[in-house]
Amino acid sequence: MPFPSHRPRRLRRTPALRRLVRETTLSPSQFIYPIFVTEEADTRREISSMPGQFQLSLEHLSLLADRASELGIGGLLLFGIPLEKDPLGTGAYTEDGIVQRACEALKRSHPDLLLVTDLCLCEYTSHGHCGELDEAGCVRNDETLKLLAKGAVAQARAGADVIAPSDMMDGRVGAIRRALDDDGFSHLPIMSYAAKYASAFYGPFRDAAGSTPQFGDRQAYQMDPGNAREAIREMELDVEEGADMLMVKPGLAYLDILHEARRRFDLPLAVYNVSGEYAMVKAAARNGWLDERRIVLETLTAMRRAGADILITYHALEAAEWLT
Ligand code: PBG
Repeated sequence: MPFPSHRPRRLRRTPALRRLVRETTLSPSQFIYPIFVTEEADTRREISSMPGQFQLSLEHLSLLADRASELGIGGLLLFGIPLEKDPLGTGAYTEDGIVQRACEALKRSHPDLLLVTDLCLCEYTSHGHCGELDEAGCVRNDETLKLLAKGAVAQARAGADVIAPSDMMDGRVGAIRRALDDDGFSHLPIMSYAAKYASAFYGPFRDAAGSTPQFGDRQAYQMDPGNAREAIREMELDVEEGADMLMVKPGLAYLDILHEARRRFDLPLAVYNVSGEYAMVKAAARNGWLDERRIVLETLTAMRRAGADILITYHALEAAEWLT
């Protein structure tokens, strides 16, 4: 009988002991903070379903970047909200697209701050889908790859440090890798949204980015929430095609996928603590139903414990403040 010689409580007695034996820790350098850059002039508009998060125009980025740098945040993840949308999502790959302009401005003002660019067409297409459509309204995979490849090059030329494709087209990592290499960007890494599920947890993001599909949904390209083995297959393909980092998305409801990914792959692994997860915490905290600070730090710790190296989270700035 182990008791009474084995008493696990001995190592929990004081804060110093608990700190000493803690297996999983959080640091702001592991956080990536997603931001929404709007093409509208002089705008700082709070997103109603994401309290504390804003649509920001270019004039307002520098202040935010100051704060992220001071707090030692690992990097920013840039999303664009264009003034004009069209069926082919042109703003995602033109030189003067909003994310490209934001990258240029931020690189000039904050050369040391890591910039990750989300690469997808859905914020830029009039129909809100993540690619070019055929007559039946289905996303054309291989035609979309060409547009994504152009987008990756445009982002790279604007100064992006990491390209993060989130569209879930087949073969996009390979297509983007080739396009980047051909344009002199063989040094730029790809963080692939490798296991991205068709999730209701993206609801608030679609308000924020104005990217709700005008018809139908994304289930014909994003993954079915019931599938775990398929996530491994998706990740294997992205590794073969040249992904440098892998991502699982959403986070909380998919920690099993994250854990399995950690077991199978040695690449740096990111998790996206998405908009719906953020909105739920904020709503409950505002009602006084739970302790926001403890919930956030516990959630982020759980994601690290499950296997994530990198945490993409709207809580990044607040969590960094709590940690320092
Ligand atoms: C673009 C994209 C989405 C998110 C990240 N990139 C939306 C979607 O796929 O519908 C969601 C992020 C979040 O919910 O926080 N395709």
